[in-house]
Amino acid sequence: MAEPSYDLVILGGGPGGYVAAVRAAQLGLSVACVEREARLGGVCLREGCIPSKALLDSSEYVHLARGRFAEHGIGVGEVTVDLPAMMARKDRVVETLTDGVAKLLARHKVAVVHGTGRLTGPDRVAVTPADGGPEREITGGAVLLATGSRAAEISSLPLDGERVVDSTGVLALDRIPDHLVVVGGGAIGLELGSVWRRLGARVTVVEALPRIAANLDGQIGRALARFLKRQGLDLKVGTLVTGADTRGEQIRLTLHAEGRGDENLDCDRVLVAVGRKPLTDGLGLEEAGVLLDKAGRVVVDAEYRTAVPSVFAIGDLIAGPMLAHKASAEGTAVAEILAGLPGEVNYDAVPSVIYTNPEVAAVGATEEQLKERGVPYVAGSFPFGGVGRAVCLGEAEGMVKLLAHRDTDRLLGAHVVGPRASDLIAECVLAVEFAASAEDLARTVHGHPTFGEGVMEAAAALTHGRS
Ligand code: NAI
Repeated sequence: MAEPSYDLVILGGGPGGYVAAVRAAQLGLSVACVEREARLGGVCLREGCIPSKALLDSSEYVHLARGRFAEHGIGVGEVTVDLPAMMARKDRVVETLTDGVAKLLARHKVAVVHGTGRLTGPDRVAVTPADGGPEREITGGAVLLATGSRAAEISSLPLDGERVVDSTGVLALDRIPDHLVVVGGGAIGLELGSVWRRLGARVTVVEALPRIAANLDGQIGRALARFLKRQGLDLKVGTLVTGADTRGEQIRLTLHAEGRGDENLDCDRVLVAVGRKPLTDGLGLEEAGVLLDKAGRVVVDAEYRTAVPSVFAIGDLIAGPMLAHKASAEGTAVAEILAGLPGEVNYDAVPSVIYTNPEVAAVGATEEQLKERGVPYVAGSFPFGGVGRAVCLGEAEGMVKLLAHRDTDRLLGAHVVGPRASDLIAECVLAVEFAASAEDLARTVHGHPTFGEGVMEAAAALTHGRS
């Protein structure tokens, strides 16, 4: 029997692919979504954002019960951690959400094809079914590549899946490490390092650059480093791992820091979190005529079309930050473009969050970027120590920092390190999206007492700083 042809065939059922599938179906297109894993949702739902946040929240409860309840006058006795139970809860969270995606696609009549797909022409994809059946070919008016990325590796520290692990492995450790060394002080390293620190592990972060989370606004990054050090994370910046010697459970790492020479560091687990690489292997891209850039990313135009006009690509496969919500926004844009609508993404208004404690969130330009670009600006900030709600919670460290154009007052950047930063940034993203001025934010009445008052006060500080 001939395979049905679809308007859109999507490779990858992650936050890019499944969101594109739903939007395209809502716009009346027939859609097939090819996914090689049993569960939909991609790395984000299966082994990234979601399970890490489930563990993060569990570890936060441990931290509160052990260290913070007493200050509220609450006694709980000895606090113990049942790691298998914590992991089982995390798995249930993943199950609930990935099942939700499957139901969502079913409700929108998206044909889900379980198998590994490969581009075999401008309008066709060959799928090797996950259950081992014969290869089948699916055709579509358009093909969307949304296969995401995989963890990058370093040759001096090969993964062994047990002692030296990537971000997937570190979410499934069978015991709390005595000493976890995290190689890479980016979002993954800092979030997962924080999880295991709160569960009781000694944690050392080894970062090649002179600072952790180098993309952050400098002032915010320095504040974060201070908070993390206070929590007991040892941050070794400007340092490279040049060798590893594994003996039984123990690993001896050789570290090299410019000007300080070599030193050894003993640990029992290593997390390698040194970035991610687009997952293009085996997709048949070269044969089909799809071009990659020097970094191995798929080259696309402003409408996400590859060098083959009927083949589109989004998310971690293309340039830009490797963020789930960026992939989803691009997936929505492609679906709308295919339906004849003006789909586009405002990259100036894409937030980023690091889920440490306190959280860090940002949108728009950093102060360093504005200086570099020669944009005249005014900065305003407000500490959470002056935000009543944050003081009530007992989490009053950190600040909101806003940057606006000196002449027009247009909000150009917002940077938050502090409680609920991940939610507070939404207001700033909306302000950037609507081209609001700092004065708009300062004059917007905020409920009292709320964390959001920190944003309002930072905007007021900026506005007053101007006059
Ligand atoms: P990253 O690029 O954010 O950070 C990797 C860090 O490793 C960099 O600071 C880099 O300088 C350092 N590094 C590279 N090679 C090294 C070496 N040999 N030795 C020591 N340090 C080295 O990548 P990460 O944290 O692995 O995350 C991957 C991607 O996933 C990123 O694009 C990130 O934005 C995204 N992500 C986002 C999250 C969020 O939004 N909350 C959470 C987790 C990941």
